[in-house]
Amino acid sequence: MPIEIKVPSLGESVTTATVGKWLKQPGDAVKTDEPVVELETDKVSVEVPAPADGRLAAHAVAEGDEVDVGAVLATLEQGAAGASAPAKAAPAAAKADKPAAQPAAVAKPAAAQAEAPAETDYDVLVIGAGPGGYVCAIRAAQLGFKVACVEKRATLGGTCLNVGCIPSKALLQSSENYHAAGHDFAAHGVVIDSVKLDLARMQARKADIVGANVKGVEYLFKKNGITWLKGHGKVEGTGRITVDGKPVTAKHIIIASGSDSANLPGIEVDEKTIVTSTGALELSEVPKRLVVIGGGVIGLELGSVWQRLGAEVTVIEYLNRLVPGTDNEVASQFQKLLVKQGFKLKLGHKVTKAEKTKKGVVLTVEPAAGGAAETLEADIVLLAVGRTAASKGMGLEEAGIELDKRGRVVTDAHFATNVPGIYAIGDVIAGPMLAHKAEEEGVALAEILAGQAGHVNYDAIPGVIYTWPEVASVGFTEEQLKEKGTAYKIGKFPFMANGRARALGMTDGFVKVLACEKTDRVLGVHIIGPCAGELIAEATMAIEFGASAEDIGRVCHAHPTLSEAVKEAALGADNRSINI
Ligand code: NAI
Repeated sequence: MPIEIKVPSLGESVTTATVGKWLKQPGDAVKTDEPVVELETDKVSVEVPAPADGRLAAHAVAEGDEVDVGAVLATLEQGAAGASAPAKAAPAAAKADKPAAQPAAVAKPAAAQAEAPAETDYDVLVIGAGPGGYVCAIRAAQLGFKVACVEKRATLGGTCLNVGCIPSKALLQSSENYHAAGHDFAAHGVVIDSVKLDLARMQARKADIVGANVKGVEYLFKKNGITWLKGHGKVEGTGRITVDGKPVTAKHIIIASGSDSANLPGIEVDEKTIVTSTGALELSEVPKRLVVIGGGVIGLELGSVWQRLGAEVTVIEYLNRLVPGTDNEVASQFQKLLVKQGFKLKLGHKVTKAEKTKKGVVLTVEPAAGGAAETLEADIVLLAVGRTAASKGMGLEEAGIELDKRGRVVTDAHFATNVPGIYAIGDVIAGPMLAHKAEEEGVALAEILAGQAGHVNYDAIPGVIYTWPEVASVGFTEEQLKEKGTAYKIGKFPFMANGRARALGMTDGFVKVLACEKTDRVLGVHIIGPCAGELIAEATMAIEFGASAEDIGRVCHAHPTLSEAVKEAALGADNRSINI
């Protein structure tokens, strides 16, 4: 039976390519992995290989044609050239050391040991047990590979489970409860005379939650037969690494080393008075004055924790807005609500110096556009100006692995670096630094290594800010659509008009659906409001499935639920919301 040769995944946000030169003509015999056709995008030039031995039956497109990812390029008669059948996805024995297409975007290794060892200790060796690494290890083990994961931390789970997503969500919940007990319960007729904070208990609860989660990953490793190699992994070249100096070999090496907090010149972090997110999760007293440098996700989530517990929080942000990249309308509503909660904002400012004193820290702050400096006193300073790829000290450059200007590992559309057999996923490569993006990449890569069609749709990756209210989004913002010149329509629905939100007493915010003017296809959904982080899942599914706004509007949503606001906003894209 003829098989189809399709346009492979071409990387982040690349959906089309132009057909270049045909390298094989109908009737030509081809071998597995032999290039058949060239594709060009504005980012890369890619040679699409034959997925099996055989004879090219027909071209489905012509040179110069524009083609979408997934479109059929040609058909191939398997085995017609007298060749053996194509490799099946039998994991350990699969044609696993080469992804389906190798875009020519990554440079050739300079100094790599490109010679793979004949016998290896493991099939797959993952460096880093964060959400990218541990999920990749589990998926690879499920597919039949012999897997090890190198982790130097005393517990598995990486930044996310140990000092990131999970502990911060624990403190966000506890601080929200504390704040609600003191401020919101009375409106429900629940009168508490005096609400007391037991911060030690709150921190102990957080530690318990972290402990249970990291132990959970250890259990999953055992269940899946994954070996945890404790220590520091260093890449030596194709097939070879060392763990605390001891050599280990593997067919496939995956770098999943994550990211570290970014520094600012003139500001020395001690994790006591000048802290990153790690120190901000461990404070044993509520600071009177907390100054947050950076009005992004970390600054606003952890700022919220301590603000709810009683700190006076000032956010110094370089830009003239908070949470850059978020839909403007949502960001400006978010800003208003944070100010109403008591956040002090210094937008368009930068910190040039932080001096520790006996009482705390004195910060020198200047307008970003230039102007007179002023000083600001703080008990605690939280530095949250982004994160940088953790690519240093692992022998990557020495092994000839290409890094970009920001220190991120350069990979092709199939997570392959320029050194054969070495791959990278998660925060250490380009793209949003999100645990769930790393997880998806981990699964996709394990499947690619097993000869399957692993794929990540970078246009359907949700983002959530776990503040009050929550902010969640997926797909394009209004500003991005304007920039792309895409004609769109908007459906919007406020939580004020949602029965469940009223009953909860949580009516701030709205759902905004952006749909294509011509086709009604959902292009972006932006939510600010209660449980936005949960509600966004429906929108993500809609985008993944290529749904129209009408599709969402025609789905029966339970009443009364917050999810009805998503349905109503979708109906609003066609001016047919019912309850407004
Ligand atoms: P971010 O990139 O979200 O925000 C950093 C902010 O600092 C930006 O608004 C930027 O304009 C500002 N900034 C940069 N230099 C500055 C300067 N010199 N002075 C003042 N402001 C300055 O980075 P953040 O919050 O540190 O988070 C790091 C990464 O971790 C992000 O990629 C984020 O998405 C991820 N993360 C995600 C979470 C989630 O999904 N809920 C939670 C926490 C982190």
